[in-house]
Amino acid sequence: MKWAALVGGYGSNLEAMLEYGNPIGLVISHKANVRALEVAKRFHVPTVTLLPKAFPMREAFDQALLKILRDEGIEALALAGYLRWLDPAIVREYKGRAINLHPALLPSFPGLNAIEQAFEHGVFWTGVTVHFIDDGHDTGPIIAQAAVPRYREDTLFDLRERIQYHEHHLYPRIVEAVDQGIVVLEGTQVIWKESK
Ligand code: GRF
Repeated sequence: MKWAALVGGYGSNLEAMLEYGNPIGLVISHKANVRALEVAKRFHVPTVTLLPKAFPMREAFDQALLKILRDEGIEALALAGYLRWLDPAIVREYKGRAINLHPALLPSFPGLNAIEQAFEHGVFWTGVTVHFIDDGHDTGPIIAQAAVPRYREDTLFDLRERIQYHEHHLYPRIVEAVDQGIVVLEGTQVIWKESK
């Protein structure tokens, strides 16, 4: 499948996906001048920067995004540091083929600053979640999780680094599994198939 990676920041997960060999055919960023765009260029992947402030309304931004996805023949979406909610029309069109990476063990600590939230809360365990995207915010059916310990002596920086290490390992493998139809969404159920 031809995937688009939706990004907006540092791009370390994009880098992990491209190094792993995931078929990312387009990178879309909602921010200009971010490192993720440099990563895409280094791997010769075409980029589109779509700035929300260039559009009069949210709907216009989302329509432009959907048009790009259709025009470019994008079949699946991997969100990685894309800090916007996807429009329901896009969620519908890409149902079962759009996934997100979240730096906590959902349903704990949804939303922004999940690593900080878990750290401040004093949890002993947190982690990484990959899920199919639905109409809610970080609520979609969970495909995979990795548990990550938070040690007593950890700084926030230490915890973030450990979580990112696990993200970089997990996300490309789940993109691959979705790409190859090894994991599919049936209704709201995540089904793992025998490998083909
Ligand atoms: C990751 O921690 C991911 O879980 C979250 O945003 C961060 C993106 O990091 N959704 P990067 O841009 O891939 O380095």
